[in-house]
Amino acid sequence: MENIYLEARQSNIEGTGCFARRHIPAGTRIIEYLGQRIPPSIVEERSLVEVDDTGEIIKESHVYMFYVDWRTTIDGGVNGNDARFINHSCNPNCKSTVENRRVFIDALRDIGPGEELTFDYKLDVNASSEQKKRYACLCGAPNCRGTMLAPPKK
Ligand SMILES: C[S@@+](CC[C@H](N)C(=O)[O-])C[C@H]1O[C@@H](n2cnc3c(N)ncnc32)[C@H](O)[C@@H]1O
Ligand SMILES: [Zn+2]
Repeated sequence: MENIYLEARQSNIEGTGCFARRHIPAGTRIIEYLGQRIPPSIVEERSLVEVDDTGEIIKESHVYMFYVDWRTTIDGGVNGNDARFINHSCNPNCKSTVENRRVFIDALRDIGPGEELTFDYKLDVNASSEQKKRYACLCGAPNCRGTMLAPPKK
């Protein structure tokens, strides 16, 4: 079913993104992040990255995964909806909210029609400095921190 607030199409940030179809007031619950709910063992199985001879990534199965809690991750790549196409920004107009172990994307502020919807992924990944390059951010915001990873804890 089509979502009344957003449509997925080519993004200037990366690949496909989601864009506001209409004015979205601050606080609106825009979409639920849907997909198959899987335990950590399956996350690990699906997190293998396939590379070619030059080291170029051919297949990454975990890009649509949303960590809910220690026992559950939602894999938006399986039975997911358009929420899986929402890109990261360091200056986001949405935020993710976990409620009763379900994930929702809510508007952080008023959003104009045509604006790309984004939230801050704040990815919590134990990556080596080489692996961290995979998480480089292309959001282009003046306050871009250069990565989709979470900022260091204070
Ligand atoms: C949940 S998907 C978002 C949809 C994605 N653009 C697509 O076409 O499938 C997450 C992936 O999108 C890309 N992405 C999202 N936000 C990004 C950003 N700010 N900078 C660079 N890549 C981004 C990364 O490859 C990330 O692993
Ligand atoms: Zn950024």
